[in-house]
Amino acid sequence: MIAPIWGRVAGVTTSSDAPFGTGSRPAQWWRTAVVYQVYPRSFADSDGDGVGDLPGITAHLDHLERLGVDVLWLSPVYRSPMDDNGYDISDYQDIDPLFGTLADLDALITGCHAHGIRLVMDLVVNHTSDEHPWFVESRDPTSPKRDWYWWRPPRPGHEPGTEGAEPTNWESIFSGSAWQLDEASGEYYLHLFSTKQPDLNWENPQVRQAVYAMMRWWVDRGVDGFRMDVIDLISRDPALPDGPVPPGGRFGSPHEAVANGPRLEEFLTEMNREVGLGAGHLLTVGEMPGVTIELARRVTDPRRHELDMVFSFAHVDLDVRPGGPKWDIVPLPLPRLKRTLADWQEGLADVGWNSLYWNNHDQPRAVTRFGDDSPEHRVASAKTLGTVLHLHRGTPYVYQGEELGMTNAPFGSIAEYRDIESIRYHEQALLSGALPDAVMAALALKGRDNARTPMQWDAGPHAGFTTGTPWLPVNPNHVEVNAEAARADPSSVFNHYRALIALRHDHPLVVDGRFELLLPDHPQLWVVVREGAIGRLVVLANCSSQPVTAAAGDLPDLAGATVLLATHPGREGLELLPWESRVYEVG
Ligand code: NOJ
Repeated sequence: MIAPIWGRVAGVTTSSDAPFGTGSRPAQWWRTAVVYQVYPRSFADSDGDGVGDLPGITAHLDHLERLGVDVLWLSPVYRSPMDDNGYDISDYQDIDPLFGTLADLDALITGCHAHGIRLVMDLVVNHTSDEHPWFVESRDPTSPKRDWYWWRPPRPGHEPGTEGAEPTNWESIFSGSAWQLDEASGEYYLHLFSTKQPDLNWENPQVRQAVYAMMRWWVDRGVDGFRMDVIDLISRDPALPDGPVPPGGRFGSPHEAVANGPRLEEFLTEMNREVGLGAGHLLTVGEMPGVTIELARRVTDPRRHELDMVFSFAHVDLDVRPGGPKWDIVPLPLPRLKRTLADWQEGLADVGWNSLYWNNHDQPRAVTRFGDDSPEHRVASAKTLGTVLHLHRGTPYVYQGEELGMTNAPFGSIAEYRDIESIRYHEQALLSGALPDAVMAALALKGRDNARTPMQWDAGPHAGFTTGTPWLPVNPNHVEVNAEAARADPSSVFNHYRALIALRHDHPLVVDGRFELLLPDHPQLWVVVREGAIGRLVVLANCSSQPVTAAAGDLPDLAGATVLLATHPGREGLELLPWESRVYEVG
């Protein structure tokens, strides 16, 4: 039995004493790790221009070390026209001046390693920026780079630029057609995201080798892994067939033709080998919006040498009408959420590995979406959501500000939004006759800028994020919800996350214990058992804003069990307050 971890200093914990740096990564070190995602634009601004930057991150590494995280995943900082906040890259081997310089990135790598933190870069290779030299060259139909992108003539019998002339009926993920006409050549190029994000053609071996060379360059620079943006889209059905059009819709979905394509695993294995990802024990996590459990089992099976883990979207797609866009929001009963996460736990129990997340820069704030962000329940619900997630089996990801219980933003009008996806949706939805209030309500719940408001460091002007004018308004609740206050308060969300992370480092059952979901249909209780040869952990959580009493007969015998972590320390018995949760260790 291990001692309760309240108050323990969460020091740097890795499975090796070797110094950090290339060559010092033990195999599968990421199984005991917790990853912290930094969205650089919104983390910390060092030069007063209102936008976060690399020196700002380096200056706040003490926050991450105190929290106890093992890895920093850095959203893109490469040179970019910033059409999609850096997910449109014009130079993979340079830093955008907005964020700093290559020397600043080197300083961040060194700083991370000195704090016992590894650094994982975002890898965006489904598409480049239209300002990338590869694409600029490819605009010339006679260029050897023409085939590096998906150029196609208009649909037979159609004049370029006329309605329906696009080579397929596909809709872009950011609304409108996924094809853009290039007037000069009369041909269209494919962009699954914005018009400034043309898709690379992975069928062309030169494209793949150029990407691998760039990745090796970053590995040589000292990075510890890659988070791979929409990597399940890189292999397509080369016939580019039209997609099904929903009733009343104008465009078809490209999903069938572009997601989880026929050569995806071949490309991933090739990348792993050519870059030495497995040999270097680099962390690899693939963002895969359309991944199934079956595919994830294969992709994360270590014997296949593809990826270490994937981001599935199953649980973050549940509050959407089936088949509908993300804006078509439906209520989410707790049993569906529990069942979905449990399916992934069971599906990857004997092979592969899960990633665990509530939040990232594309998702609304978890405490607003899955918890209760009212002043009465914000803290307890943020803690309980963290507890439940981190006690699943897999590698947890914490998105900046989640450790403070940051909430969605109270944006008033569309003029306050900066995100291209939200602005495009607003425009297109109004054009197709949607009611303005309904569109604004959907944006308030699901808009990506909810996650992108500046990090709340203190109660001062602009939350201590910048001395200038922040690029996106700071959430006014920073006067209560901020890192300075949270670090000083032993009962804060921050200190709860710190204890959760330390528990993972210290307790083998959190890492490897067999997972079982109890009471799957209970509308309020989330009960999880993690079991192994050394004993059992039981998580008992009230995921609702009403009290609930568990029936003793429904639970494992908790007599003599030790509470390792609790939202309301000192409370006992089967009656749970709103959003109360406990982690028990049973002998
Ligand atoms: C997924 C990224 O997380 C998102 O922010 C981006 O807009 C798209 N991929 C396109 O790169």
